[in-house]
Amino acid sequence: MKKESIGIALLGFGNVGSGTYRVLEENAALISKRVGADVCVRAILVRDLNKERSVHAPAELFTDDFEAILGNPDIHIVAELMGGVEPAVTYMERALASGRHVVSANKEALARFGGSLTERSQELGLMLRYEAAVCGAIPVMNAISTALGANEITRIQGILNGTTNYILTRMGEEGAPYAQVLKQAQDLGFAEADPTADVEGHDAANKLSLLIAAAFGDTISPDNIDCTGITGVTKDDLDAAAASGETIKLIATADKENGMLRASVRPVPLPSENPLARVRNEFNAVLISCNMADDIFLQGRGAGPLPTGSAVAGDLLEIAACIVRETAGRALPTRRLP
Ligand SMILES: NC(=O)c1ccc[n+]([C@@H]2O[C@H](COP(=O)([O-])OP(=O)(O)OC[C@H]3O[C@@H](n4cnc5c(N)ncnc54)[C@H](OP(=O)(O)O)[C@@H]3O)[C@@H](O)[C@H]2O)c1
Repeated sequence: MKKESIGIALLGFGNVGSGTYRVLEENAALISKRVGADVCVRAILVRDLNKERSVHAPAELFTDDFEAILGNPDIHIVAELMGGVEPAVTYMERALASGRHVVSANKEALARFGGSLTERSQELGLMLRYEAAVCGAIPVMNAISTALGANEITRIQGILNGTTNYILTRMGEEGAPYAQVLKQAQDLGFAEADPTADVEGHDAANKLSLLIAAAFGDTISPDNIDCTGITGVTKDDLDAAAASGETIKLIATADKENGMLRASVRPVPLPSENPLARVRNEFNAVLISCNMADDIFLQGRGAGPLPTGSAVAGDLLEIAACIVRETAGRALPTRRLP
């Protein structure tokens, strides 16, 4: 059945939810033209209905009742932008079970449950997309699953976490100690009040697990990725690397040779000819090696309301266009088949 407008529910209206709302509102005309129908936010789920919000949306869109969203027949796509594993995973499962397509930015939940959610969406003929979960605005999941889909991917190397790249860049360029730069990053909003998931490498391991599933079809829990963060990197380490013409970066790597998958997240001294060595501050980047396309280097903003909202809105646009063209049930999943 063709639709004149596609209804969206945003689960969450924090950094990413409000950024997505702005992208959908401010670029509504071009999105509608590409899709062939209006793409309208019809509900926004939050925890606290009385919170002051810096981005304005009509009060009647807000609800704290997920059941009301499932009960609204004018909602076709649910975008999970809350974070955490539960209730995010249950809400995604229930949205699929109720016949809604799902978009998510939640690397933590998807790194653990992306396999079963993908299987469920395929069984039900629904789409699950999560471009924003890996490197924010950088279209790396789309690149791997569509444009590079006819390649054997042999290796992925990436700077997948902006907080740690910011800290290492400032330590290297200013000679400032770790604790001082971490505080600066927190003041500027690049680091969380609790930075553990970033500085210990767990956030990068979650994203690497999603890249591995998309590139190689392997399921690997982030807990099984060999992971070392940046808390042990000293100014002396950075100086010693610089003296040999190298730059230390927190690098997530995955490669597959003769069926053997190797994956790690760790600080690595990179020679200056590696393009990842030149990625500074909060930027993210991914270097993908393929058997036909050769090396592809992607760089951009890995976080922030509008860059991340851009990736979520891109997924919403793709799904909305498939709904309008009645092809959503036949779309390829983001993960490769093993
Ligand atoms: N921040 C980034 O730049 C970025 C980049 C890429 C991916 N991501 C991912 O995007 C997701 C969202 O991140 P964020 O930075 O936008 O988080 P955030 O600013 O903390 O916002 C979370 C939102 O979800 C709502 N929420 C949380 N738990 C809820 C629940 N149980 N029921 C109803 N609403 C709930 C909150 O409601 P209230 O407003 O009422 O508290 C809030 O609006 C996370 O998975 C994160 O890893 C973030």
